Parts: sequence; C-alpha cells; structure tokens
Amino acid sequence: MTARKKLFLKTYGCQMNVYDSERMAESLKDYDQTDRADEADLILLNTCHIREKAAEKVYSELGRLRDLKEAKPDLKIGVAGCVAQAEGAEIMRRQPLVDLVVGPQSYHRLPELEAQTRAGARALDTDFPEEDKFDHLNRRPRAARGPTAFLTVQEGCDKFCAFCVVPYTRGAEVSRPAARILDEARDLVDRGVRELTLLGQNVNAYHGAGEGGDWSLARLIRELAKIDGLARIRFTTSHPNDMADDLIAAFGEEPKLMPYLHLPVQSGSDRILKRMNRGHTAEQYIRLIERIRAARPDILMSGDFIAGFPEETEEDVQATLDLIEAVDYGFAFTFKYSPRPGTPAAERAQMSEAEKDDRLYRIQALIARQQRAAQDSMVGREVGVLFEKPGKFAGQMTGKSDYLHAVHVNAEGIAPGDLRRVRITGSGTNSLSGDLIA
Ligand code: SAH
Ligand code: SF4
Ligand code: F3S
Repeated sequence: MTARKKLFLKTYGCQMNVYDSERMAESLKDYDQTDRADEADLILLNTCHIREKAAEKVYSELGRLRDLKEAKPDLKIGVAGCVAQAEGAEIMRRQPLVDLVVGPQSYHRLPELEAQTRAGARALDTDFPEEDKFDHLNRRPRAARGPTAFLTVQEGCDKFCAFCVVPYTRGAEVSRPAARILDEARDLVDRGVRELTLLGQNVNAYHGAGEGGDWSLARLIRELAKIDGLARIRFTTSHPNDMADDLIAAFGEEPKLMPYLHLPVQSGSDRILKRMNRGHTAEQYIRLIERIRAARPDILMSGDFIAGFPEETEEDVQATLDLIEAVDYGFAFTFKYSPRPGTPAAERAQMSEAEKDDRLYRIQALIARQQRAAQDSMVGREVGVLFEKPGKFAGQMTGKSDYLHAVHVNAEGIAPGDLRRVRITGSGTNSLSGDLIA
C-alpha cells in the first residue's frame, strides 16, 4: 500500500468550479485534502478566466508557489479550470514550475495526468472529448454531506455574448442525461443533502436525454422534486431567451422550487444589448419578469450587469438604471467591463477606467438600495429557513431563507439540515434574524 498524499486545491470563479473541484478531489484516490499549501504533494488551482482580474490571480498565486516548489522539488503544481483551457499551452511555456494543465472537459483524465507527473513528465490536456466526463469521474465516496450541494446538469454555452469567454473555455452546450442526474441527486440526499442547486452556464437551456425523449429543465425539476428527503431545489444561471413556459409555470406549481431566480440581463439599453449579442430587448426582459411574477408573485429576482461596455453612452447607462428601477431586484451583481482576449467586444474602442468606475458605482448604489429594501421587507414575515451551521454567537444557528437571505436564529435544538418556519424580526447589514414558529 502506498502512503497517502496531500492535495491542496484552491478554487476561483463560479459555482461550477466549486462542483468540479469536489469531483476532482474525489477522483484523486491516493490523496487527502489539506488546507495548507506548504504540506501538499500536489497543488491544484481551479481557475477562472471571466475577467482580467480573475485570470491574473492565477499568475500571482503561481509566483507565491515558487518558493514552496524550490523547497520541495517533489511537489507537483497543476492548473485546472478556465484559464487552463484558454491559456494552457502558454502557461506550460512560461511557467516551468507548472507540471500539469487540465481543461474543464478533461477532468476525468486527471488521475492519469497526475501519474504522468509522478513519472517525471509534464502533462497537458485541454481537449473537448465527445464523452460525458462525469461518467468517467469516480462516483462520490459515500461520506456524509452538509445540507446543501451543487449538481452540474448542463455545461457550456452557444450564445456567444460579445464580451464573454465562456463559450471558448467551456465549449458547446451539453446536457447530462436525466437518469444520471437523478441517481446523483438520490445519492446526495441519502448522505444528508436537503437542498440542491442545479448548475449550468445556461442551465435553463437544459435538454438532457430522459425517458420518452429530451427533458426540459422543468421536467427534470418535477422529477427531482419526487425524491423524498429533498426539500429544496434551485438552479443557476439562466438566460432570458431560454425561460420556457413550463419552467415559469414550475415556479407556481412546484413547492420545492424556491422563489428565487438569477436572470442576468447585463444592460437596459437595446442598443447595447444588440452590440452584446444578447438576443432580446429590455422590454422583452421586463415582460418576461412580469410573466414570472404572475406565476410566483413573491419571487426574488437577481441579475448581473456590466458597466462600461464599449460604446456605452450616458443615455445607455440611464436606460440600465431605468430597467433596474422597473424590475426591482432582491440581489444583483455589477461588473466593470473587462476586455477578454478572443472576444469581439475586446476589439472595439474602450473607455477609461475612471469612466467605467463612475458607472459601476452609480449602478451599484441603486442596486444596494433595492437589496436593502428587499431584505428589510422580510421583517414581520414568516419564511422557511434551512439551517446549515452554528452562527457566530453561542446558541445561534444560521441558514438560508427560501429567498436566499442569510437568517440567524437563537434557539435550542436546531440541527444542520433542519428546515423550520421562522418569523423574521430584524434586518441587519447582510442578514436577517428571527424566531422559530412553534
Ligand atoms: N451564463 C451566465 C453568466 C456567466 S458569467 C449568463 O449568461 O448570464 C457571469 C457574469 O459575469 C455575467 O453575467 C456577466 O455579467 C459577467 N461578465 C462576463 N464576461 C464579462 C466581461 N468580459 N467583463 C465584465 N463582466 C463580465
Ligand atoms: Fe457568457 Fe453569454 Fe453564454 Fe452567459 S450566455 S455564458 S454571458 S456567452
Ligand atoms: Fe469563470 Fe469559467 Fe466559471 S471563466 S465564471 S470559472 S465558467
């Protein structure tokens, strides 16, 4: 028997990377995870390429690892994720300390690549194979899990928004077969999971093979909801153009589907939406949200915005602020436009950072007000809370409401995984407090 080795795995970027990291860690059977880089035999960085700042983190992290590698020549360093996919060959060329590069569609080959590095070779795999990588990754070991888990159901994107690297780093849209997802979900629930968040870059474009033909995301959710012990279902991220009628209806009909929807729009200006290649107008987006709210009036909407897209005028910014006013978000994220290599928008005239900052702050200020109001409006209401862990103070438990607000409750006898009704009594900086309803 070989001695067990230690893996230090650092995850950047989106929830899909979090899910992938779990699967990678499980596939490396000779390794236990450590949270100390200095005692690791293998360091893996699971990276994000979405904005320049995200990608730069990889190179600064590699810089910090140089000393470790010098002190311990046996240490292997690997780069996974979207930077690996986009810049893998260049990383290999420019960073001699990197032993292994593996792109998101090749994770099933990680154990083999790791063995190659142990034999003294450098290993690179950034192919887009035909097979479903998840079929080849080992099944999760049957260890207990916390109350919430991510489950990737769809990957990749065919939308090609003019600013975005995802279609290049994750490849074309692929949906996993429904039966595999249901199996994985049942297994997770057996091990303690009560809330599943279904993941995909365009999760509502899901169309996986199922009984009787392709299943929509709504069909998949309805089947998942039949699993005893599974209490909550969420999904992210959706594209407005894939918001099918059956999925909208599910918000009104399926009690396990939580009243929260992340539906990025990026801009409120039709001129900019067109230049972004988003495929819809601001008006269409607003009408869509009206239909969603007709199905589920209390749904909390969330979104993403980009500030300072090339050729964005002051009028366009005003249109974005108007759209935000019209929608009234419960949460939203605004990013400064970052030109990404290989994307069409990166070739266009760019505005100054100062101008982008100014727009970013104005959009963020409006969103912050709406977020505050949405959170405060929960006071006095009765909500479901799935408890996850002890809070900061003694006797306190913390969890998430149906609407994804963090909620703290002081009470005896609540365990992680308990789903309880709570009356909200207070609204703090970033969380709510409340009392159990008997
Ligand atoms: N698939 C999802 C989002 C993927 S990326 C969707 O279509 O909505 C997450 C968010 O990052 C995007 O919604 C967008 O707001 C932001 N983003 C993507 N590329 C960006 C770029 N080049 N600069 C700034 N923000 C960007
Ligand atoms: Fe990127 Fe657009 Fe695809 Fe979302 S829909 S992942 S923003 S290209
Ligand atoms: Fe980043 Fe790749 Fe996710 S670029 S946001 S890690 S899909």
